[in-house]
Amino acid sequence: MKLEEFLRLNAPEDLAALTAAVAKASLEVWGSIPFKTGLLEETNPSGEAQKAIDVYSNDVFVEALIATGHAAEVASEEMEEPVESKGGVSVAMDPLDGSSNVETNNPLGSIFGFYSDRLPASGRRLAGALYVTYGASLTLTFSFGKGVHRFVALREGAGTSFQLFGVGLKLPEKPEVYGFGGSRSEWIPAVARFWDSFDGRGLRNRYCGTFVGDYNQVLARGGIFSYPALVKRPKGKLRVLYECAPMAYINEQAGGYASDGSGNVLDIEPRALAETSPLYIGSAGLVHEIEKSISPT
Ligand code: AHG
Ligand code: MN
Ligand code: MN
Repeated sequence: MKLEEFLRLNAPEDLAALTAAVAKASLEVWGSIPFKTGLLEETNPSGEAQKAIDVYSNDVFVEALIATGHAAEVASEEMEEPVESKGGVSVAMDPLDGSSNVETNNPLGSIFGFYSDRLPASGRRLAGALYVTYGASLTLTFSFGKGVHRFVALREGAGTSFQLFGVGLKLPEKPEVYGFGGSRSEWIPAVARFWDSFDGRGLRNRYCGTFVGDYNQVLARGGIFSYPALVKRPKGKLRVLYECAPMAYINEQAGGYASDGSGNVLDIEPRALAETSPLYIGSAGLVHEIEKSISPT
């Protein structure tokens, strides 16, 4: 089944249009990656150096989302302020996740949260979420609240279409992989202890340095990804609106749990657009285990 048909049958009109627009724009971003690896002078609102691909993908997605007429605003980790428009859905996006990996051709991603309230808003106000994985293949993984579904880009002659790859994706029962960002010496002690506990538990350490790539394999194999609280960065690195909440929404729809170390990521009420949070996401058992060890009460 093609994406447009699936969306017509399984999504409200606004989310269907926004998802189709992201799908089309993601092909343009994918094709541009090899040519946009340069570092720019500017920094993003989180103070991180911007790459040409960060800004280019931001502009491609903003234009595509606004053109649908369904975006009330588009907020991005690459922009100080949202772009205002007239639709009913507030879109928050990480237009290119993992841009520090562009030169090494590691998997990259784009993350979108479709919020029903003006931003900043809690993950409980998400009506849907989507992530693009730019890897050996380009896949769209999304949910509008009725399970997690995946489409894959298929090149046919001159054109590319999106074909159904899977519906109702669920985290496997048995967790298999774990991957933690930052380095052990930076982590808060409870995270270092949890990491050490993996010795002998039969899970494999799988980490590629791109949140989307690292989470995508947790969804397929079960386990846990974390960009944890650091001693020097107790609020972690990943942004609530653009990265943590949309992925936590999808993960919960796939039967998992995502914590900020003391409770559900979806319950965070971010006060600022670029607010960050520690993130522990994946198989519910493992995430509850580390949450209890960080916040024993
Ligand atoms: P982004 O490229 O959107 O800023 O995200 C990068 C994030 C995330 O993808 C990854 O998990 C993390 O940064 C890796 O951080 P370090 O490079 O500090 O390990
Ligand atoms: Mn990014
Ligand atoms: Mn990111």
